[in-house]
Amino acid sequence: MRKLRGDFLWGGATAANQFEGAWNIDGKGPSTSDMCTNGTHQTPKRITREIEEGTLYPSHEAIDFYHHYKEDIALFAEMGFKVFRLSIAWTRIFPTGMETEPNEAGLKFYDDVFDECRKYGIEPLVTISHYEMPYGLTKAYNGWAGRECIDHFMRYCEVIFERYKDKVKYWLTFNEINAGTMPMGNFLSLGILNDGTENFTDQVDIPQLRYQGLHHQFVASAKAVKLAHQKYPNFLMGNMICFMTMYPNSCNPDDILETQKQMQMRNWFCSDIQVRGEYPSYAERFFEENNIQIQMEPGDEEILKEGCVDFYTFSYYMSNCVAKNPTGEETSGNLMGGLRNPYLESSEWGWQIDPKGLRYTLNAIYDRYQIPLMVVENGLGAKDKIEEDGSIQDDYRIDYLRKHIEQMKEAVADGVDLMGYTPWGCIDLVSASTGEMAKRYGFIYVDKYDDGTGTLERKKKKSFGWYKKVIASNGEEL
Ligand code: BG6
Repeated sequence: MRKLRGDFLWGGATAANQFEGAWNIDGKGPSTSDMCTNGTHQTPKRITREIEEGTLYPSHEAIDFYHHYKEDIALFAEMGFKVFRLSIAWTRIFPTGMETEPNEAGLKFYDDVFDECRKYGIEPLVTISHYEMPYGLTKAYNGWAGRECIDHFMRYCEVIFERYKDKVKYWLTFNEINAGTMPMGNFLSLGILNDGTENFTDQVDIPQLRYQGLHHQFVASAKAVKLAHQKYPNFLMGNMICFMTMYPNSCNPDDILETQKQMQMRNWFCSDIQVRGEYPSYAERFFEENNIQIQMEPGDEEILKEGCVDFYTFSYYMSNCVAKNPTGEETSGNLMGGLRNPYLESSEWGWQIDPKGLRYTLNAIYDRYQIPLMVVENGLGAKDKIEEDGSIQDDYRIDYLRKHIEQMKEAVADGVDLMGYTPWGCIDLVSASTGEMAKRYGFIYVDKYDDGTGTLERKKKKSFGWYKKVIASNGEEL
């Protein structure tokens, strides 16, 4: 039976805006995420058009990786990480997105981070754009709604590819690019801020603009991949999808068809373009029925064909049920919820825990594309408690991860080509959906709280030692 590769890439995942802090230091400009206040599961984050005095913006300090990177990378190395997924903050390199010359201090910071990784033999896996872009581009063009962003993005890619060509081999273009298929993706993923939008979870949505923005991202992603293939043959270029596994709520053919339809437009649409190089035929009907006309420029179709990714990556947290006429209990998820599955339990944030769904999903993706896959996010957001002896006994997290790794191994035995696994938030960081610190994913606890207080001290949780053993045994000791 097939087993995990000998060179399996074990590691952890983060994103600049959720952990770096130092939001306006060394020439960094404000990003879209810097305009978001904190929220909770019940109260949505607000999007402010200007920075308000006295308001708490979680990304501004986050967990201050900017000044703790040496300590943090040393801890990752102690766990035995082979790979570390992080993103570059575009605004450290081009503060408004529109400069012609890059900001040297920003470039230097990532040089230092990548050198520190290399010191321990950790391979960086870099997301070029993870849920943030220069706020300057939102103000100038309404984010990716403006085609101009393609050129600004390409200038950014040219600079970072050339600068880090000897330090970074694995690149992902856009984090969870399929967020743009949902109204929440407007500001989160496309930097689109329509008049009237105030809340993160209830944004004014103009589907025509959103899908046009997504088209610009597809072209930009393909151009970046094409450039890498032409100029940097050692690079491996990946996409990144938020995989929201869906099961039909019943065997009623209406539910089956509804699930298939949603799977197509939510989960497969973006990767069909990024892996196969063209819009899938099912999208035509969706666009027609929703009155969406994608404006293509001459050459766009060729670029999509020439910029197909080398490997497919995705996040997997939960699964949901889908019905044609949904009735019954609803559940939450990172980008969308669905109906409750009576066979599954949920996290404190209402995300249904479904390890076998990961095996199912890996098989489904591999059947479709037959290129190497990587799980670049997975994990349990939970409240952690510090015991009297100072320890953090996060057995619930160990249990979640163990069950998912078991299913990953099953999928490999099923024949899936899996490159690696980077659980989300390997160190506690700010939640993307709510801006909370209380929702923790890490193997490493950070003394930082929802009200912005905390010493930022790092502390190993029980899961730290557990994951170290998992890596050392290449997944045999779970
Ligand atoms: C993914 C994102 O959707 O899920 C991450 O790529 C995010 O940025 C993660 O943090 C977990 O979601 P949340 O809302 O719990 O932080």
